Amino acid sequence: MELLEALYTTRAMRRMQPRDVPDEVIPRLLDAAIRAPSGGGFQNWCFIVIRDAGMKAYLGKLFDGDIVAARAGRYRGLGSVPVGSLARHQAEIFPRLGVPADEGWMLASIVALGYPTGRWAVAPRKPAHEVTFVERFGQRPAWTLSKPLWPNDV
Ligand SMILES: Cc1cc2nc3c(=O)[nH]c(=O)nc-3n(C[C@H](O)[C@H](O)[C@H](O)COP(=O)(O)O)c2cc1C
Repeated sequence: MELLEALYTTRAMRRMQPRDVPDEVIPRLLDAAIRAPSGGGFQNWCFIVIRDAGMKAYLGKLFDGDIVAARAGRYRGLGSVPVGSLARHQAEIFPRLGVPADEGWMLASIVALGYPTGRWAVAPRKPAHEVTFVERFGQRPAWTLSKPLWPNDV
């Protein structure tokens, strides 16, 4: 897939098929994820892959009725959604996952992965000129964009 297509159309995907993500996909996703930059290059992250249905159900309940499901990648048709709101339940979640209490770990996000039932389309967003200043706060750019530039005008 073309990079710009992935950037323009990847949404928080919450409608998922009932099938599991195959085991062999996980290392491929994480091998790409760890290429991200990190402060000072410390790479002070770790990932816990949760396949267990009971643990997924438990995390789903903490989510107050929101649907846990889909943004890590469009890799092999996958959709995802980051669930940042679960970070406030860190104290409850960490012991269940065996995260050491004395090493300073913080729950950044839970990313739910699955195969979407719907189609991808360009994400509606505030236009770039409305959220951009030039040189100084409040100084608008000379350009405006009336519609997304992809796929016709990039
Ligand atoms: C850092 C971050 C945290 C998020 N946390 C949640 C969350 O806790 N619950 C949720 O339903 N969606 C969460 N999302 C998904 C956003 O709500 C979603 O990207 C936004 O509503 C725009 O939707 P769209 O990507 O489908 O256009 C999060 C997204 C980001 C980037």
